[in-house]
Amino acid sequence: MEVIIQPTPEAASQVAARLIARLFREKPAAVLGLATGSTPVLLYRELVRMKLDWQRVTTFNLDEYVGLAPDHPASYHHLMEENLFRHVNIHAENVHIPDGQAQNIPEFCQGYEAQIRAGGGIDLQVLGIGTDGHIGFNEPTSSLASRTRIKTLTLETRRDNAHFFGSEDAVPRHVITMGIGTILDARNILLLAFGDHKAAAVAGAVEGPVSAMNPASALQLHPLVTFVVDKAAASVLRKTEYYRWVYDNKPNWQRA
Ligand code: PGA
Repeated sequence: MEVIIQPTPEAASQVAARLIARLFREKPAAVLGLATGSTPVLLYRELVRMKLDWQRVTTFNLDEYVGLAPDHPASYHHLMEENLFRHVNIHAENVHIPDGQAQNIPEFCQGYEAQIRAGGGIDLQVLGIGTDGHIGFNEPTSSLASRTRIKTLTLETRRDNAHFFGSEDAVPRHVITMGIGTILDARNILLLAFGDHKAAAVAGAVEGPVSAMNPASALQLHPLVTFVVDKAAASVLRKTEYYRWVYDNKPNWQRA
């Protein structure tokens, strides 16, 4: 795992945007896995500002709330549209987000997995991390081999996300999310985390044991994972000096 520590969320988002820009240069028909929540919003702003060419890019989002219509202001369809898709030249048919209103959820989930496979697999998956270590909406105790499916949110996540809905009670109980196995199939993984409320989850993911109690720790099993975090989210890590040393001594060809 590589851990890149930046002074601010803005600086971290710029590093992440440069990694995505490099992927688009190398592979204009890239398949990008995308995340929602508050964390990637700065990254999307930076990607929009960079005016990249999204003409041949395909995207798959990690998750969506069950029961929300795409135009619900707290839906992830809406968040993606407002923060990224309506500002770039991506083709609507290349955008994939789980359908929170699917009538047959298991069938929809199988189809979503099939679409990812048919698209050639995900080249780079962007992730946030929950305060409980979730990636996508794979809450603690999720199977590390899980695939796209319905999940029930923890009380902690519903509390964390209440600000999107106005109240905790309004946060849906269920979601559709790519599984941890689905995420681990991506060729590269880029996880962003900002703020001291994420510090314990980040430390558990990078330096803790691999455990379903911190789903992000499963990323230790993947060969190409980059955590880009701000100083606050790095504050509980024990090997920060080493991570900084690695970054400062990167060979030029590895730099974004
Ligand atoms: P946040 O959520 O970006 O809103 O903090 C992260 C996540 O739940 O993955």
